[in-house]
Amino acid sequence: MGLDPEVALESSLGWREWGRHPIINCYASARTQLIDAKFTYRLGIHTTPIGRALKYPAIGLERVSRRLRSAYQDLLFRRYTALHGLHYGPTGRGYQTIAGGSHVDHLARYHGQIPRLAVFAYEYADILRYEDGDTFVDLGCGSGQNIRFLAERYPASLVIGTDMNADAVALVRGCEPSASVQLSVGDMRDAEFLSLLMSDRVDHVVLSHVFSLIFAPSARETRELRQGFIDRVVEGSRKSVIIIDNFGKRGELSIAIEQKQRAHVTDDVMSYFSKHVEGRAFMVESESSQAIIFSRKN
Ligand SMILES: C[S@@+](CC[C@H](N)C(=O)[O-])C[C@H]1O[C@@H](n2cnc3c(N)ncnc32)[C@H](O)[C@@H]1O
Repeated sequence: MGLDPEVALESSLGWREWGRHPIINCYASARTQLIDAKFTYRLGIHTTPIGRALKYPAIGLERVSRRLRSAYQDLLFRRYTALHGLHYGPTGRGYQTIAGGSHVDHLARYHGQIPRLAVFAYEYADILRYEDGDTFVDLGCGSGQNIRFLAERYPASLVIGTDMNADAVALVRGCEPSASVQLSVGDMRDAEFLSLLMSDRVDHVVLSHVFSLIFAPSARETRELRQGFIDRVVEGSRKSVIIIDNFGKRGELSIAIEQKQRAHVTDDVMSYFSKHVEGRAFMVESESSQAIIFSRKN
């Protein structure tokens, strides 16, 4: 009878590996036993005496940690929905550096920005179909990196920018040379405000590093808010919607703390587009971001 392949592998790794990281090795072995105990129990396959002894503790532990995680996540959704307004409010950390700056500082900042949208506009021009004369809406435009890019590249276009932070909008207003840029301050989670923005149908919607900040006080409400939001922007756009951000795994939604007043949510953003058969959604990426491009069929 040959050597058990698992034992053979263990001895080939040798005790030196265990000696180097004893705590991590113990942790990995314990986790492996627990995961394997659940796996063999659920599939009804042969296991070791340790596997049999661990099956109920492993399942219990899984249930408890799932409940704790869900309670923790709900607490973060509640807490950060309230803190979000503070972060991007007049005294928040979001644009602290703008308020005190001079006009020269503002101009340097405005014109020194690198637009995240540019790489996608060039690489995926055939899907986005941006044309000079089209109407663009940049939701959560911040200090206007994409506004500047659009106004310069499409001079005959109307470019509408909106953000909940008045200092950021004031910076764009004070520095943008084009007369075809329209700006407003507002919260895009407010359905009425969003409908007003989208009421004269626009050609293209841009959401750059802001969709991960759209959430509500619980996971369920966040999903509903996000689906409703996508429905409204898809219905209101004649040609494309681009969401530049980082996305989560299929079927998973999670909130993560970034700093004291800011958290971000990742989920399967692609799934919000699946009901929209009037167009097609593509997942693409640049060096620093991912993007989902929805392109209306016509
Ligand atoms: C990370 S910045 C991104 C800014 C810009 N789009 C860019 O790509 O540089 C996020 C911006 O979204 C804005 N924002 C966050 N939540 C918002 C909301 N609910 N409504 C409107 N603007 C929002 C913030 O004020 C901030 O300017």
